[in-house]
Amino acid sequence: MVYFDYAATSFIKPDCVYRSVYEAMCYNSANPGRGGHFASVQAAEKIYEAREKICKLFQIATPERLAFFPNTTQGLNVGIKGVLNHGDHVVISGMEHNSVARPIEALKHKGLITCTIVKPDKDGNMEPEQFVKAMNHNTKLVVCSHASNVCGNVYDIASIGRLVHQKEAYFMVDAAQSAGVIPICADDVDLLAFPGHKSLYGPQGSGGLYVREGIRLQTITEGGTGSSSELLTQPDEMPDRLESGTQNVPAIVGLGAAADFILDKGIDTISNHDKALCTRFKNGILNMPKITVYGNDTSVNVVALNIDDMDCVEVSERLDKEFGIATRSGLHCAVLAHKALGTLGTGCVRFSFGCFNTTKEVDYALDALYYLINH
Ligand SMILES: Cc1ncc(COP(=O)(O)O)c(C=O)c1O
Repeated sequence: MVYFDYAATSFIKPDCVYRSVYEAMCYNSANPGRGGHFASVQAAEKIYEAREKICKLFQIATPERLAFFPNTTQGLNVGIKGVLNHGDHVVISGMEHNSVARPIEALKHKGLITCTIVKPDKDGNMEPEQFVKAMNHNTKLVVCSHASNVCGNVYDIASIGRLVHQKEAYFMVDAAQSAGVIPICADDVDLLAFPGHKSLYGPQGSGGLYVREGIRLQTITEGGTGSSSELLTQPDEMPDRLESGTQNVPAIVGLGAAADFILDKGIDTISNHDKALCTRFKNGILNMPKITVYGNDTSVNVVALNIDDMDCVEVSERLDKEFGIATRSGLHCAVLAHKALGTLGTGCVRFSFGCFNTTKEVDYALDALYYLINH
């Protein structure tokens, strides 16, 4: 199989990730932070090491402010519902994934909040000033993806964050498509949700949320934390405030190993590799008839396209069955983005590359597309 679906999840992981998950299951399967015995303390230490490594990647100086969750979606829900109160206004970008749009819609539906959506241009671009214009005196939170999961456009989170802070609102970033693909600096961000299982190359069941110092989120889950057990209320201290219940130690330890892999290889090296594949692929399709490409950025690992007169699902199915190429077609859980790009009715085919892909595989995909166009 030629795997071009890294934006969904990374199928191939570095060897160190497989090894560390196995070792964690063999040697660190005690309940972290739930006992004074050696094995429990050791499991807790392993989790803290992983926290530190992820923080190093995102330039976060306070590892205890990073909570682990099974995926990005949970981090987004915890952040959004933890910040917003009755009467608040929220601004979200018009390129958001349903993991942002749906929790917001659910709060709106209950009559709790109001929301303004920033309108992208037809190529999926948005300027930082648009976010400010969409804000009003009740705006508590602004949410923007760092990179679109549909077309791969990257948004200037540093500038948006600075402008949002001038208006004294919180800024949340969905880093699902940028974590491990391009450098991330959390300096201008209050809440950063990320997946472990996509381009950070960690196991499924890993992800998290960084919450800036000084922000106390309302909890959406309460329970055992192994700390302040004499209290009936959820502790204030992070990360315990957000991490109730037994943690997924193997996944988190595996994510720590994945962070080591990225730190060793260098995020710039990975980023340049993905960009080179993206550019090669885009240049290749430019010369082909009948292909429409969406978005206009090659900074991340995503390329979206359609072939005239062919259904996107059929394209993906034929790529899979006839060429062994894995892509993702349809609406990519991102109704807003597809609306903006004019592909709500058709969907599109998404190719997303990873650090284990090669130029040979990209050329193979180009040949496959050329064949499909002509047969
Ligand atoms: C932009 C974006 N946000 C959120 C998510 C949800 O990620 P997860 O599956 O880790 O919950 C995705 C998944 O594809 C995504 O692309």
